[in-house]
Amino acid sequence: MQIKLIPLQMHGDERGSLIALEQDKNIPFEIKRVYYLFNTVEGVRRGFHAHKNLSQVVIAVRGSCRFLLDDGKEKINLLLDNPAQGLLIESAIWREMYDFSEDCVLMVLANNFYDENDYIRNYDDFLKTYG
Ligand code: TYD
Repeated sequence: MQIKLIPLQMHGDERGSLIALEQDKNIPFEIKRVYYLFNTVEGVRRGFHAHKNLSQVVIAVRGSCRFLLDDGKEKINLLLDNPAQGLLIESAIWREMYDFSEDCVLMVLANNFYDENDYIRNYDDFLKTYG
């Protein structure tokens, strides 16, 4: 499956911690968009889509949430709970996010602008194309 956990170097001392994200360095693409999810509601599941052509890196900068990742052939569940870890999700992967902690802040970097036409929001359509 076209996913990868990217270790992010943490610069920490007695004043606190700092992590830098750099295009084509620890983030393996051109960063065109950054968005973040917060005020998520416990028990609510979201995502339910794949992208035709988009790479994203997701970081739980605070708190945690679980991911279901599915390339049409295989499903993977993973917990994202470490701000020093980036989850790279390439195109054509169905994702659902759930079990958000109350304090969860998920930051997402993407290699393109928001484009609703790039979304596949129907799971059967996803399976027809990629399954
Ligand atoms: P949505 O795709 O439903 O979020 P999720 O996949 O996390 O469940 O997006 C929620 C709303 O935000 C929807 O109306 C589209 C809008 N949106 C943007 O305007 N720009 C963006 O970059 C993103 C990701 C979403």
